[in-house]
Amino acid sequence: MGNNIFTRIEIKRRLQASGTEQEELFERARQVRNTVQGDKLHIRGVIELSNSCAENCLYCAMRRDNRLLNRYTLDEETILSLADQIINTGIPTVFLQSGESEKCGCLLESVIPKIYQKHGCSILLCAGKKDFETYRRYKEAGADGYILKFEAANPSLYENSTGSSHAERLSCIRNIRSAGMKLGTGNIAGLPNQTIDDIVDDIFLAMELLPEFVSVAPFIPNNGTPYEKSPKGDIELTLNIMAIWRIIFPEALIPTVSALEYIHPDGQAAGLNAGANVITVNFTPKENRDKYAIYAKDRFVVNIEHAYKTAEQAGMTLNIM
Ligand code: 5AD
Repeated sequence: MGNNIFTRIEIKRRLQASGTEQEELFERARQVRNTVQGDKLHIRGVIELSNSCAENCLYCAMRRDNRLLNRYTLDEETILSLADQIINTGIPTVFLQSGESEKCGCLLESVIPKIYQKHGCSILLCAGKKDFETYRRYKEAGADGYILKFEAANPSLYENSTGSSHAERLSCIRNIRSAGMKLGTGNIAGLPNQTIDDIVDDIFLAMELLPEFVSVAPFIPNNGTPYEKSPKGDIELTLNIMAIWRIIFPEALIPTVSALEYIHPDGQAAGLNAGANVITVNFTPKENRDKYAIYAKDRFVVNIEHAYKTAEQAGMTLNIM
């Protein structure tokens, strides 16, 4: 296998790597990570503010047309007290995630400055498409990063899977950068109708966008969606994508997502072995968690103990106090 991973043909080969070839890929990814960033596992605390969503993605249970899902939005007091809990646990980053809605957009404008003024912590957002001015206000209020995955680089795959404009999504991603926030983006592995060449395009698109955070999750069939009967994404493919991200973006933060654990026991430790270096602990109140169904109703919920165990399995250092 050639050494220059940056060509289309080499990326395509590595996406399909198995056996010793795959081991070599993961080894190289870990080496890059450890040389450039050390063996530190970064940790984020996520609060899922609301599962209301104006989008209608065919793969996501939070889609507008899913009448089976009870919608919730946390109140401001709850959000602020959960943010306190994250900081008091010793976690340096408050990650606020929600479906895409105007109501939640306003809620964010109100809670971001309060959290930032109280804790001076890093605040990361993932709340969908907004206009440039909104991203700028979030940044001014104290948010330092925003995650908006491009989902799929192939415009027709994206549009057929979401019913939304690909150009508009890319323009939002670029606006996040122009608003001065760190950019997180990424894709889904094993989306119905996705080809290996589509994933090569995902990797090239990420190379253009130069994200500080980059992530991939395996596709999880969600109940109440048009894709509920489609097969789930392949863990090996997902891990190969993560390892390629790592080699291409040595300085990026790459999460090992909970969906990996959902499709495979110790899936998140496998993600760290493929070069990831972030884990997200869930602080959403128990009664709301099941309704935040981007992965599945019975999704795997990460707590602190699991984060420690996963770090240990992968020989990484998790130091939060
Ligand atoms: N499987 C995998 N990832 C999903 N997401 C939403 N639904 C699914 C699913 N069924 C991801 C999308 C979105 C992020 C918040 O969650 O990539 O950008």
